[in-house]
Amino acid sequence: MSTQQLNAAEYEQFKEFLERSCGLVLGDNKHYLVTSRLTGLLDEYRVGSVGELIKLLVTRPPMGMKERVIEAMTTNETFWFRDGFPFDILKSRLYPELDQGGQIKIWSAACSTGQEAYSISMTAEEYRAANPGKLRGDVRIVGTDISPAVVRQAQQGRYDHLAMTRGLSPERKQKFFRQVSEREWEVLPQIKARASFRVLNLLESYRALGKFDIVFCRNVLIYFSAENKKDIIERIAGVLNPRGYLFLGASESITSYSDAFEMIRCNPGVLYRLK
Ligand SMILES: C[S@@+](CC[C@H](N)C(=O)[O-])C[C@H]1O[C@@H](n2cnc3c(N)ncnc32)[C@H](O)[C@@H]1O
Repeated sequence: MSTQQLNAAEYEQFKEFLERSCGLVLGDNKHYLVTSRLTGLLDEYRVGSVGELIKLLVTRPPMGMKERVIEAMTTNETFWFRDGFPFDILKSRLYPELDQGGQIKIWSAACSTGQEAYSISMTAEEYRAANPGKLRGDVRIVGTDISPAVVRQAQQGRYDHLAMTRGLSPERKQKFFRQVSEREWEVLPQIKARASFRVLNLLESYRALGKFDIVFCRNVLIYFSAENKKDIIERIAGVLNPRGYLFLGASESITSYSDAFEMIRCNPGVLYRLK
């Protein structure tokens, strides 16, 4: 195990790489986390220790290595209808308010394997079924994430048994999925059709994405520095249409980072609206 221990210089170099390339801030004592997440890459890059891997990463990384390391370090935890309230608010307040005949555009930033984007699509399907003639312009969802692997899975829209048990009611499972093998279910085409996915680093430009009525940016800013949080929130404000809405994770808040938004308490949950 001694070959896996990191010295102070290697750890600092790695911390600096990670924050600069994807925003993730490592605490001072996360050596174990780093070695446990990176050990799986040693064979792939033919190095004998995590220290050597970091040296290669910061000096002459082979093509694709930075992405693989970022993928190993990020947390992709997600599930269907996470926190509940954003999806209830979409149906009770935002779809009725924003339904002016045109398309409602929604960005699922840091979408992981797609459960958030498809949960939004399912709420649109449910809203249309309950309100005939409404939402004629329908809803369009763009999901983005830094990790090509999770974006690929989101695009496929296929989920294993474990993923299917997390946050999905039996009714929704039956209504919105088809079983494609003993172990896998796939989101139905009409749910998939509203969503598209692409790789995007939140530290880079959002210009190519266009404008949105609603942004979901949940459970990712918690990993970032105050400076990056502020910058990202300001740039999200820049891609929102006038009086557009922002959802954050249940434990996240932007009040100290931006005054571009007003907070709306929805009980349960909080929503932010561009001033
Ligand atoms: C914990 S998941 C949250 C997924 C979903 N938003 C939710 O709340 O269930 C965080 C996601 O953020 C992505 N991520 C981390 N840093 C990122 C960055 N700089 N740009 C874009 N995505 C990033 C990770 O790859 C991961 O899929």
